[in-house]
Order: sequence, then structure tokens, then C-alpha cells
Amino acid sequence: MTRANDYAIEVENLTKRYGGVLAVDDISFTVKIGEVFALLGPNGAGKTTAVEIIDTIRTPTSGKVSILGMDVSKKKYDIVRRIGVLPQGFSSFDRITVRETLQYYARLYRGRNTDIDRLIELVNLKDKSKEQYRNLSGGLRQRLGIALALVHDPEVVFLDEPTTGLDPRARHEVWEVLQGLKEEGKTVLLTTHYMEEAELLADTVAIISRGKIIAMGSPGELIETNANYQILTLRSADEKVFEIVRKLGFEPVLYNSDKIKIRVEHTEGVQQILSAIKEGGASYLGLDVRKPNLEEVFLKLTGEALHDGHIGEEGSA
Ligand SMILES: Nc1ncnc2c1ncn2[C@@H]1O[C@H](COP(=O)(O)OP(=O)(O)O)[C@@H](O)[C@H]1O
Ligand SMILES: [Mg+2]
Repeated sequence: MTRANDYAIEVENLTKRYGGVLAVDDISFTVKIGEVFALLGPNGAGKTTAVEIIDTIRTPTSGKVSILGMDVSKKKYDIVRRIGVLPQGFSSFDRITVRETLQYYARLYRGRNTDIDRLIELVNLKDKSKEQYRNLSGGLRQRLGIALALVHDPEVVFLDEPTTGLDPRARHEVWEVLQGLKEEGKTVLLTTHYMEEAELLADTVAIISRGKIIAMGSPGELIETNANYQILTLRSADEKVFEIVRKLGFEPVLYNSDKIKIRVEHTEGVQQILSAIKEGGASYLGLDVRKPNLEEVFLKLTGEALHDGHIGEEGSA
């Protein structure tokens, strides 16, 4: 049995309405101390609203949230001392250096005790400590933002889309920093629309769509429970292949001039498709059968893409 105080975050039936918009629709979940928890969903799903209610910034329409056993509607002042926040679209003072910014925040939040050098090291900004904010790339800015969230050594850290808009390399560098947080034993609530990010970093992922959590579990569990099908990819430029697959009643999830990707519920389905292609005198250059990845599970559950460009991406095997 988990005791109540093993939880860093407890969310019960949380709902938020903005006029006619139901942004967060009756969500419940818990995050254990030391856990990395990801809210994964597309733009407009309600991630920022949920996170900013949990980290005390916004007020809910209804529902209950506790952090480290304290009710957010009653203990805001005690809670903010123990949590760190990287808001979505973080930005800072243009002409102030990395070190000066950290020193300033340290004075605001903690007094003289913050080890600035250690923080700079933790987010890998040693070479940039004298650089002004305006000269930092997107990835470096996000790393500064993470360091600022850690200035008062919080136990629970909220990171709202920490890698959105970064190029792949900068994203990997932020991931390294986030893995460091996990090793430090911080509890992390992260939002993202990158399946890869959730899969890589999170112990538990909650898939959120239109304000509702529609599936929750470890990345492995999510795939196990929601993906009772396989993905067949046929490499073929032959238009007949597409026709044959459609005629058999399979709906291709992706196709382009040299590839067709099909969701197949039974192993016999693969055989059925391959036989029909042979009988129909069509041809393919290669094939691959694999389990779906988290992004494909999301697509199946919601019918939505997580972010633009997803359809063209090949999932990992
Ligand atoms: N302050 C606000 N006032 C009115 N509507 C809002 C406000 N914040 C968010 N929304 C709406 O709530 C929904 C969820 O938004 P948001 O929480 O920002 O989602 P996400 O972070 O997943 O992109 C969207 O339809 C958005 O337009
Ligand atoms: Mg958001």
C-alpha cells in the first residue's frame, strides 16, 4: 500500500471552464515522490491549464489538488517554497547574463545559500555563464529557465513544454538536463507533445485529449494495453498495392509514393494482405511488421496527431 504522504501530487476530479470552453474535464491522477510524470497531448488539450492549477497559479472550477500533502487552495504560500516552475514560453531579462539572472533569482527566493556554480553545472551552462540572455539560443534559454526553477532547491518541479520549438540537438541537450533532475530525486511533472520525450523521460504518461485523460500508465503499459494490433509497412511504389489493401477492408494509416503503413489486428491479416498482393499481380520491395509506438497508440485512441509533421515520421521499431 502506498501511504498518502508518498505522493508529491494528488489531483482529484479537476475541472476548469473558461466561459463555454471546458479546458480540463474531470481529470484525476497521482504522482509519487521521485517520479517523472508526463502529460502528453496536442496543442489545446488542456496541459498548461492543468499544470498551472496544480502549481497554484490558476484556480480550478472544481476538484481538489494537493502537493506534498498540502491543499493548493489553502496552502499556496507553503507550497510555492517547495516547487519550481518552468512556464511554457519562458523568457528572461535580455541584457542580463546567465550568472546575474541566477544570482538575482537566488536573492528573490532563497537568500545567500544558493550554490550558483552547482546550478550552472547542472544545466551545463558553464561556458555561457557570462553570456546575456538575448544572445542565448533556444536550448540554452530553456536550460537557464530550468536552472531558475531550481534556485530554491524545490522538491517538485513543473516543466511546461520544455523542448517545444527546439531543434533535435538542443532537445537532446535539454533531455540530458532533465535526466539529471531525475537522478537528483526531484519529482517532475512535465508536459509535452513529443511522444519520444514522454517515452524517454517519464515513469508514467497520461495521455490528455480535449481536457480528458484518456489513457495512463508507463510507456510500456500504454502500448501493451492499447495496442492489440501491429503495424505492417510495405515498401512499394505500386498503386495496385494500395487498392488491394483497401479492398480487403484495411485502412492505411499512412501512404506516400513509396510506402504504405497498415494497422493489422491479427497476424493472419498480414498473411491475407501478402497473399492478395501476390494474387493481384502487384509487387512490393520490402516489408516490416512491428508493434506500434506511443505516437501511433495516441493516434488510434484520439484520431488526432500530436503535432504537425507527425504523419510523415516513421516510428521506431
Ligand atoms: N486563460 C484562458 N482563457 C480562456 N481560454 C483559455 C485560457 N487558457 C487556455 N484556454 C483554452 O483552454 C484550452 C486548453 O488550453 P491549454 O491549457 O493552453 O492547452 P495546452 O497547454 O494543452 O495547449 C484551449 O482551448 C485554450 O484556448
Ligand atoms: Mg500549453
